[in-house]
Amino acid sequence: KILILDFGSQYTQLIARRVRELNVYCEIHPFNKYPGLDETVKGVILSGSPFSVRDKNAPVPDLSKIKGKLPLLGVCYGAQYLAQNYGGLVEASDSREYGRANMKYIDHESELFREIEVDSQVWMSHGDTIMKLPEDFRIIGSTSDVEVAAYQIEEETTFGIQFHPEVYHTTQGLQILNNFVVDVCGCRRDWTPASFVEETVEGLKKQLGDDKVVLGLSGGVDSSVAAMLLHKAIGTQLTCIFVDNGLLRKHEYENVLDSYKHMGLNVIGVDAKDLFLGELNGVSDPEKKRKIIGRVFIEVFDSEAKKIPGVKWLAQGTIYPDVIESVSVNGPSATIKSHHNVGGLPEKMHLKVVEPLKLLFKDEVRRVGHEMKISPTILGRHPFPGPGLAIRILGEITPEKVALLQEVDHIFIEGLRKHDLYDQVWQAGAMLLPVQSVGVMGDERTYESVVSLRAVTSTDGMTADWVHLPYEFLGKISSEIINRVRGVNRVVYDISSKPPATIEWE
Ligand code: XMP
Repeated sequence: KILILDFGSQYTQLIARRVRELNVYCEIHPFNKYPGLDETVKGVILSGSPFSVRDKNAPVPDLSKIKGKLPLLGVCYGAQYLAQNYGGLVEASDSREYGRANMKYIDHESELFREIEVDSQVWMSHGDTIMKLPEDFRIIGSTSDVEVAAYQIEEETTFGIQFHPEVYHTTQGLQILNNFVVDVCGCRRDWTPASFVEETVEGLKKQLGDDKVVLGLSGGVDSSVAAMLLHKAIGTQLTCIFVDNGLLRKHEYENVLDSYKHMGLNVIGVDAKDLFLGELNGVSDPEKKRKIIGRVFIEVFDSEAKKIPGVKWLAQGTIYPDVIESVSVNGPSATIKSHHNVGGLPEKMHLKVVEPLKLLFKDEVRRVGHEMKISPTILGRHPFPGPGLAIRILGEITPEKVALLQEVDHIFIEGLRKHDLYDQVWQAGAMLLPVQSVGVMGDERTYESVVSLRAVTSTDGMTADWVHLPYEFLGKISSEIINRVRGVNRVVYDISSKPPATIEWE
């Protein structure tokens, strides 16, 4: 495997995803807190950083067990750190070093640049520049603005590159990473979905033995893939629980339950609609809604799980971005992201936790699901929030409002599917606004509800942009909603990005 030492760059995870695209396993660790280097570690990559190496509190790694002993690639900050620390000079640059640049010199003797073309486009993003290299450092690549765009240390497999090989705009970036991890480090490209499934299933068998495991299914990608892996490993020792909280999409409960049963999973469906809606009665504060739904979910899940005699483990669909320890930008101290879980379930249930996906990025979860032949309808589903339609009904929730919004949402989502737009959208849904407006239908005045449609593109939900859905499509959906859903006389389309808005309205 490859270790990636993180100095807090926004691109660190991208380096990891690129290396994994090459079917080579890698892990991200904070620069000041990485695990011991056993023989499985074939090489190390140093990430970029929001810091300048000239800052007083710039992060300083301990590379004594790495440099000169293992292949080492410094990217941006990593490259500058090596150059400065071993006797070179790094200064604030006065020429343009952001964005597109083209290589004008490449040393093809260096393994790092095998098959990289002179003139190849690279992506720069740095305020400092390496003015002078230490004596045994040799330039292996330059652009017209940056002489030291890449270097290698003589007699070592230590490299530094000033540009970012991990970003899409560095057109031969993947080739450079391939040259490093395969040619220089000697990694085999055998980290594939198939090998992951095989190794994980073996590992789970050993870890779980004859123990029983319970897992909460949500209909989403992560819990479905986690369930399938466990199912392959321990078969009927796994019990899945799927709760209908009354806030799911139209027919969602029946459809998803059905597809899970087709996958061979042992699923208990729990109809808790009345319980959830009862507890939510009269509540309009968004945070209170979330808390109530979280609490009731735990109660329902816990009471179902208690019916499984001798259950020892709780399985969760936690994925890699939830567990990476991130380096804080406000200082070189490491802070830990709060681990994602089903609202405090493990603490409450005194069960051991098993997380079969915690090494995977989201796109890898999908590839693993595909490998296990999970249906594309489950793997390609839009994300849907745990509190469901509760946070899309602004104000108090009633069964009538839920039913109304389910109809609206159904027309919208099915419309997206019918017009081949579903897969171009990251998430979509409808909000029921707490306003009535005047309309006219036939000769009658109406005074009814407004719904807002929302469709966004995103990669992780942290930032998002509204989708430019075709006007014709929006027009068609709007008429269909107003004609078919009693109680709605006006449809609007949300054209806000996140930030400053959020995806959900509550
Ligand atoms: P926002 O509205 O914060 O949403 O832009 C970002 C993503 O998170 C989802 N979301 C939630 N998911 N429980 C969840 O499981 C929640 O309380 C919750 N709130 C928002 C939202 O659907 C979007 O994908």
